[in-house]
Amino acid sequence: MEQLKQGLSGAQEHVHRAVQSATPIVNDALGKMQHFMAPYILQARSFADNHAAPAMHRVQPFMQQVQARIQKGFQHSTASIDASLHGLQPWQVAAVTAVVVLLTLWALTWLQAAFAEVRETGFVQSLIDFLKTLPGIRGLVKREHTKMMVKLRASINKSLLNGGEQHLQLPKKGLPAQQIISSLEKRGQHDVPFDEGASTVSGTLYLSGEAHCALLNDVYTRFSHTNPMHADVFPSVRQMELEVLAMTAAMVGGGPEGDPEVCGAMTSGGTESILTAVKASRDYMRAKRGIKHPEMVVGQSAHAAFFKAAEYFKVKLVVVPVGKDMRVTAAAVARALTRNTVLVVASSPCFPHGVIDDVEGIAQVASKAGVCCHTDACLGGFVLPFAHKLGYPVPAWDFSVPGVTSMSLDSHKFGMAHKGTSVVLYRSKGIRRYQYTRITDWSGGLYISPGFAGSRSGALISTAWASMIHQGEEGYLRITDQMMKAAGAFAKGLQQIEGLQLAGSPAMTVVAFRASKPRALNIYALNDLMSQRGWHLSALQLPPALHMCFTGQHASIVDSLLKDLQECVDILQKDSTGIKDGMAPIYGLASVSPDRKIIGEFLVAYQDVLLSG
Ligand SMILES: Cc1ncc(COP(=O)(O)O)c(C=O)c1O
Repeated sequence: MEQLKQGLSGAQEHVHRAVQSATPIVNDALGKMQHFMAPYILQARSFADNHAAPAMHRVQPFMQQVQARIQKGFQHSTASIDASLHGLQPWQVAAVTAVVVLLTLWALTWLQAAFAEVRETGFVQSLIDFLKTLPGIRGLVKREHTKMMVKLRASINKSLLNGGEQHLQLPKKGLPAQQIISSLEKRGQHDVPFDEGASTVSGTLYLSGEAHCALLNDVYTRFSHTNPMHADVFPSVRQMELEVLAMTAAMVGGGPEGDPEVCGAMTSGGTESILTAVKASRDYMRAKRGIKHPEMVVGQSAHAAFFKAAEYFKVKLVVVPVGKDMRVTAAAVARALTRNTVLVVASSPCFPHGVIDDVEGIAQVASKAGVCCHTDACLGGFVLPFAHKLGYPVPAWDFSVPGVTSMSLDSHKFGMAHKGTSVVLYRSKGIRRYQYTRITDWSGGLYISPGFAGSRSGALISTAWASMIHQGEEGYLRITDQMMKAAGAFAKGLQQIEGLQLAGSPAMTVVAFRASKPRALNIYALNDLMSQRGWHLSALQLPPALHMCFTGQHASIVDSLLKDLQECVDILQKDSTGIKDGMAPIYGLASVSPDRKIIGEFLVAYQDVLLSG
């Protein structure tokens, strides 16, 4: 106590001495400032005397007139209200007042709702919505929509089975195995054929090597009956899930050589990993900061799964534009932050253009603001670590970047496992726990589940595990090198085709390109011509472009792809009038139409056709 007292009196003395020595300095500075400001103050005063005062003098009579008019108007209106109420009973006055107040409130509420609607949908869309309600236009839109749907249904359903092969009701008697196998063989003939290493489809087929596929099929059959929800019954599956998580974490800046706190969970695919990370980040930030109206900042190029997550989890989506190089910048993200931001997103790389956002800058912005930062490496997670080891230039993107709090990476893409598995990783268990659902008062017992699914396939987990240990680092290095070389050769060749140019500089195996002069070359018509030759490229928008995602199935197709592209560009540059059918008109319309609602309606109708035939 005595020491504390002594300490306090010592501190008091210090402060006293400091104030004493500072006082003359401050007084001197104030004196100098006064001296410096004096002429300006005099000038300002004389300006006010010379200009402001006469102006006020001139305005005064006008102001008096306005005041008198307002007074007169007010007296006139109160007098006319008095006159109109004259002779009414007090209850009638009260009733009229109530009706007027209610009508005013109703009008204000209506106006507020209308303004909110316009703010949400945008002025142009609201205007279009209004125009579409006008009788003549409503009919026209409906007729055009029906025509388009008939055309689309016919084109999509062409590939469905016709006649007796279909089972739209349970067969009365089960079919013998042999009949089922031969039916499947016939059905498979409707799918796009591909030769090992010579796929004509962008992305999609990631598994390569006959021995690899055969191994995975064998592994699947051994665990096809298992379900990791019953960890006590199938400890083998739990063990494999743990190992997949540990191996992936160690690849991307976690594990013993990185941040050992990095942890995760397996999900059914990239979309589920993203949904899970958004949910966990939202709930983590609610617990940490009490944010009740969460917002998430994503680039225009972020995967659609983030838009889905925003819709599902009621997180406001703040979309920022990409730069000329198609990358999301830290500056754009920083501008979009608010005190409700829970999560910012960077892609490594993004689906459309295959470029890696400024992960370091974005994570730094997030870390400064104390919000979560997700790196979407669904495409890059099983490529970038190996590309980096091989010496390809790869900017920092993983958990080695401070501020990155979660990541999605897909074992069922470049991890070369069967479709149906992905990994979501977190910087720490403190965030991961917010993806769990616990129920303590359910009559079915005490319940805890790591993610969206209840039962899951243990067989899929086992194939992801088998794929990783079968390839090993050596296998992934070999395939990555092969894919990077194919993508590099394609990008180089593409730049020799007059009329086309790269859309962003490809960071790994996704190469996007567009027309150098969009008015001279319709990129969607080019896609249609390529489709007629058996290619399946991905059509992009904002801006109109196409991309090819090279996988282990594309080692031998680069030259033929470039040759077909060159020939199709030549055809279009000579004469594009003959290209009428196909998806070009639809994509063309979608990319320019300001009516995003009608495009959305069209998508819904398309999905309905896919599900109902
Ligand atoms: C960058 C990126 N993120 C997420 C996804 C979604 O993955 P999935 O289709 O497995 O749900 C994809 C799919 O292509 C992707 O490219």
